[in-house]
Amino acid sequence: MSSQPTATSARGLVDAPEPDISIYMGPDDLMRQLREDAVAGLTAASKSIPSKWFYDEYGSGLFDQITRLPEYYLTRAESEILGDRAGAIAELTGAETLIELGSGTSEKTRLLLDAARRAGHLRRIVPFDVDEATLTVAAEELGLMYPEVEITGIVGDFERHLDAVALSGRKLVILLGSTIGNLSPHERARLLEDLSNNLNPGDSFLLGVDLVKPVGDIEAAYNDSAGISAEFNLNILRVLNRQLDGDFNLNRFEHVAVFDPESEQMKMWLRSTTRQEVALRAIDLRTTFDESELLHTEISANFRRLGIERELSLAGLKPAYWWTDRQDRFGLSLSTKQ
Ligand code: SAH
Ligand code: AVI
Repeated sequence: MSSQPTATSARGLVDAPEPDISIYMGPDDLMRQLREDAVAGLTAASKSIPSKWFYDEYGSGLFDQITRLPEYYLTRAESEILGDRAGAIAELTGAETLIELGSGTSEKTRLLLDAARRAGHLRRIVPFDVDEATLTVAAEELGLMYPEVEITGIVGDFERHLDAVALSGRKLVILLGSTIGNLSPHERARLLEDLSNNLNPGDSFLLGVDLVKPVGDIEAAYNDSAGISAEFNLNILRVLNRQLDGDFNLNRFEHVAVFDPESEQMKMWLRSTTRQEVALRAIDLRTTFDESELLHTEISANFRRLGIERELSLAGLKPAYWWTDRQDRFGLSLSTKQ
């Protein structure tokens, strides 16, 4: 399948090889998960929906726009570190297989891939994401840019399908963008342990984390003046409407993103601007939102070096290198499976 040329790709690129994609989470499984999450989250006393449901094709596109916003420093800070350190990472890890969890467009990843190619070890790239549409385009583009390397995309949930990572050969798993900060501390511990159990001694893990910094800078990143973060937040209601035959009125919810100094997390909600009833007909669910009631949609944790290194160690991953950007806004940790 991987070598079949197609006339045009999803982005209209001529002669893009059709990417090899393994589906760990097909449409039925995805729907089952979303149904479960919607029932649990919308019938609870404090309503919530897990942030992974932001990412349909439109939501991934909005995130891509967020990464280019002047206020959203995270992507630029991480790219700066990768630009400086990619050569060292490629040499230190000697990876034959690079697996990217929550890969999105894999744009920053190219800094690492170019260095790995120059180091001469790279044989296989495995982008792994819950959003099939974005993954397919990314895999196709990687195929064009790295034609000598095998590309195997995985559509899956990194909280459930990390056995997909248990491949042979020297591996480097990467989780960039501070995506780990979208998980609760308990979920993070489970993810790191699960990952560690699927690595072999000597394999590496590169983790990008947003660092604790002045509140104003963080809050601006999630309340941009162009309103893209708000549109991204509201997209979770679009996903619920489309997938579960819902009638959320997006004009009756507003974006709220505030930093909580106690937990050192950005927290994001949708606030109901009025008392209203909402139905998700596909699951026979009706619920009422009071005026000003909040639907919790995301946390984005900020980290400190000691804290994240402790979490890695507890999972059996030995922190070996730590790099930050020149303004200490973002950290990259390289650890090794013991
Ligand atoms: N790594 C990119 C994209 C970050 S956006 C960057 O650093 O810019 C977060 C990505 O993780 C999205 O592409 C989203 O679809 C994916 N994602 C979120 N939760 C996921 C999950 N549970 N399993 C797999 N992918 C997930
Ligand atoms: C993908 N993730 C790390 C982003 C973040 O910063 O938490 C998603 C995002 N949410 C709002 N803006 C961007």
